[in-house]
Amino acid sequence: MTLLQAVSADGRSGTGGSVSVTSINACPRITTTTLFEKKQRREPITSLTAYDYPSARLVDEAGIDVILVGDSLAMVMLGYDSTMPVTMDEMLHHVRAARRGVKHGMLVADMPYGSYQVSNEEGLRNAARFVKEGGVEAVKLEGGEKRVEFIHRLRDAEIPVFGHIGLTPQSVHTMGGYKVQGKTLSAVEQLMRDAVALDRAGVCGMYLEGIPREVAAMITAEVKAPTIGIGAGPDCDGQVLVLHDILNLTFSPAAKFVRRYGDAAALISNAVKAFKHDVENGAYPADEESYHLPKEARATIETVVERKRAVGSR
Ligand code: KIV
Repeated sequence: MTLLQAVSADGRSGTGGSVSVTSINACPRITTTTLFEKKQRREPITSLTAYDYPSARLVDEAGIDVILVGDSLAMVMLGYDSTMPVTMDEMLHHVRAARRGVKHGMLVADMPYGSYQVSNEEGLRNAARFVKEGGVEAVKLEGGEKRVEFIHRLRDAEIPVFGHIGLTPQSVHTMGGYKVQGKTLSAVEQLMRDAVALDRAGVCGMYLEGIPREVAAMITAEVKAPTIGIGAGPDCDGQVLVLHDILNLTFSPAAKFVRRYGDAAALISNAVKAFKHDVENGAYPADEESYHLPKEARATIETVVERKRAVGSR
């Protein structure tokens, strides 16, 4: 297939007239176009968080579509008790590590609290850092209607944007805690307005967190952009979870929507205890786990030692 044929074969996709070159790559990358196409085909989109090289590599090699360096890293990686304190520089450090592990999925950086709330100019500068220094394909930010102007600025700067509405952890203080959102009629109406505003502003996807499944289903049916739910029920276009939640690595009780797929805490803890036990009992390292001198060098040393011993005993 020539380049021209590949381009015209892919050029039919209807997302902003962009042309995908995925068909000329051996292993096609996930792009914003892929996500819209998946929504149209009703193929579930998968997303997980990853914050460093090994986890990003494993998540990517498992074929997850969207790999999110979420600001949840503040809590699960850095031990803060909310997402609020994490800085741009801390986020970038993790984004760069994750970038080196991701070859196939779409890498998305979460804009941390304070990086886009002060002014659109500062927000744009910070988003551009994620693209330029972190190598991400898109950024994510929290909020609906009130973010429309900022999203336009980002799109003018060629930066794809994911929205995030519902239970938005950066609003923990104004929400009065981490509570399910959209439970009253007026709250549902506001969520619908937020979702439609994000859609019209041209987001490439929106994360719906902590809302009733009925509301998530209405939003998903209403908007063109793919919806990715977390605690938002099964009717979204895709699902995301925090990697450390599914691996039992958060040291806190799991939320209702979390399904644990593994127990990394037990795995790590048991391995560490076994190592300690073996060292303390002389069982580690064994001879097979030790380096040896080459035969000739060993023989020479043994001869020298033997001679010294003989001289000493005279
Ligand atoms: O920070 C994060 O991990 C997120 C996901 C939960 C959507 O925002």
